[in-house]
This record gives sequence, C-alpha cells and structure tokens, in this order.
Amino acid sequence: MRLLITGGAGFMGSNFIRYILKKYPDYKITNLDKLTYAGNLENLRDVEKNPLYKFTKGDICDQKIVDSLAKEVDVIVSYAAETHVDRSIMNPREFAMTDVIGTQTLLEAAKKYKHPLYVQISTDEVFGSVESGKFTEESPFLPNSPYAASKAGGDLLCRAYAITYKMPIIVTHSCNFFGQYQYPEKFIPLFITNLLEGKKVPLYGKGGNIREWIYTQDHCSAIDFILHHGKAGEVYNIGTGWEKTNLEITKLILGALGKGESQIEFVKNRPAHDWRYSLDSSKLRSLGWKPKYEFKDALLETIKWYKNNENWWKPLKSGDYLKYYEEQYKNR
Ligand SMILES: NC(=O)c1ccc[n+]([C@@H]2O[C@H](COP(=O)([O-])OP(=O)(O)OC[C@H]3O[C@@H](n4cnc5c(N)ncnc54)[C@H](O)[C@@H]3O)[C@@H](O)[C@H]2O)c1
Repeated sequence: MRLLITGGAGFMGSNFIRYILKKYPDYKITNLDKLTYAGNLENLRDVEKNPLYKFTKGDICDQKIVDSLAKEVDVIVSYAAETHVDRSIMNPREFAMTDVIGTQTLLEAAKKYKHPLYVQISTDEVFGSVESGKFTEESPFLPNSPYAASKAGGDLLCRAYAITYKMPIIVTHSCNFFGQYQYPEKFIPLFITNLLEGKKVPLYGKGGNIREWIYTQDHCSAIDFILHHGKAGEVYNIGTGWEKTNLEITKLILGALGKGESQIEFVKNRPAHDWRYSLDSSKLRSLGWKPKYEFKDALLETIKWYKNNENWWKPLKSGDYLKYYEEQYKNR
C-alpha cells in the first residue's frame, strides 16, 4: 500500500509513520508536512533514510502540491492540523485555514485520483462537553473552541464529499493522545518537562476537568485497524475508557517525579473550557480492536521518555512562543 500521511512530522503522525514502517516492511509512505512550530523532523530521524519513506515540505491547502503527491498513492491518512486549543483562542484563522480548507483540498485530490479510501483523524472535541454519559458516533457536533469548530468543519466536509461524490471516506474521533514526541505545550508533556526543569505546573481552574486518554501506540493500532478493516462511509470513535481529572494526572506525574503538591500553581481557567469528554467506542471494539496498554504504565513510560530525551524537548521549550505562553499563564 502507498500512503500519503499529512502532518507526519507532528506528534501522532510521526508515531504512526514509525509504526507502519515497522509493521509493514513493503508499504510506501509519503509525509506531507508544512513544518509549523509543531512539525519537527527530529521526530523521524530514525526512519528518514528508509527507502520506502519520503518527506515533502508543503501546505495541505496547496492544491498543486497535494495533487502531485496524491497522484502517486492509494490512500491519504490526514493528521495535519492546527491542534492546540489555547492557540486557537489567540489565532483562530490559521485553524480555519488548515483544518477546514486544508481538508477540502485533500478531499479534492482523493476525488480526482479516485482513491479507494480517505481517512480523517479527528477529535472528540467536536462533540463539545458532556456532563454524564458518552458521545456516540451519532452525537451532534457542538464545538466550543475555534479548534474544535475547525475540526468539525473538516469532518463535515468529509461527510459531504462521501455523500455528494460517493467517496470512500472514514472519519475517526479520538480521545486525547499522550506519549513520546508530544510537543511540550500540551498538558502532560508540559507538566513533565516543567517539573524536570524545577518549575511549577500551571493547572487550569481547580483541575477538575475530565478527559479520556489514549496512549500513542494504541491510537496507532486503532488507525492501522481502521485502515485495513474499517468500512468506507463510517465514522468511528476511538476511546479507552480511561477518564481522569487533570488533577489526578497532575498528582500521578508529581508522584512519579518525587515532587510535592506545592509545585502546582492553580491558574485562571481557559475560556469555554470543556468540562468532560467521554467516547462510546463500542462500534470500533465490536469489529475487533481494543487498546493494549494500561493508563498508569503508559504514563510512566511517557515520563521515562521525557526524562531520557531532554535534548529533544529542551530546544522546543526555549522557543519564543513558549516563553510568551508562560507569560500568559502568569498573567491569569
Ligand atoms: N493531540 C490530541 O490529543 C488529539 C486527539 C484527537 C485527535 N487529534 C487530531 O490528531 C491529529 C494530529 O494531532 P497531533 O497532536 O499529533 O498534532 P501536532 O500539532 O503535534 O502536529 C500537527 C502536524 O501538522 C502539521 N501541519 C499543520 N498545518 C499544516 C498544513 N497547513 N499543511 C501541512 N502540514 C501542517 C504540523 O507541522 C505538524 O507536524 C490532528 O488532526 C488532531 O486534530 C489530536
């Protein structure tokens, strides 16, 4: 199979590329990535010389580049997106461009070259917040942040292309990812690396917001499963049932690094901060996929990885944006 992976230099895209090259030694992968602040070729140093892997720098909104690559592959798996909720509050336009127009550009190419499948990687955040119960694949889209709204826009275009042009498209909604190579602005790596640097950790509100979590390897296996066994035209939720408050996770990280709760700095809550996400993933599980990892083991593995890979994350944390971002927290 020849795959075009978009956003493959980011956190989850790079994990997926490594996973596929290892599991399917005859698959060819083209990685199209704009290399925004979140794209980092260091994430793929170990595979860059693999003759079955090719990298192209480019924007998914650029129809010419997208077409030239789509022509040579069987399936697009699209990870490319602007992904950080806090940034979407500060700069929503970039999110609308990449997550909506970029998706439309990729769908156009998949249509033109009559691909047998297109896979859209999306999020549970499109459904908004749920007090109790779980989101199913049929739950309405009620996004609350510009990030979630932009992802919802891309997902709705997938639905419209599938119906209007009868294209074979699968949309996946996943709970929150964590694991190696996640940019240290996101909750779990930000907290681990702050503590490794001897800094405090900025916890929103009272830390009561609840998220469901999935480890990188389990998300990779879910997308692999969907790629080979999913039904075109379907939507699949990808979840683990690991629901945790942010405070619970903070305490686990503090404990693992031998730090006390005095390291927590409670900061003003993010505007429109969703209270709880929870996915019903029984549809995908009924086909035969299930997660393999236990939450605590996966979290400890992740902490160990950040401890052992300071030379990966330290340069990212010295960047201008992260300094600005820390100032923002202080001023809340
Ligand atoms: N991180 C999570 O917890 C989570 C949960 C569910 C779904 N998702 C979805 O999974 C996907 C990957 O998330 P991630 O956390 O790995 O993201 P990330 O921010 O780490 O990486 C995104 C990648 O996309 C690239 N990119 C951005 N704009 C682009 C453009 N216009 N053209 C080409 N490349 C571009 C970036 O350079 C980067 O390499 C996203 O679609 C996201 O919405 C993420």
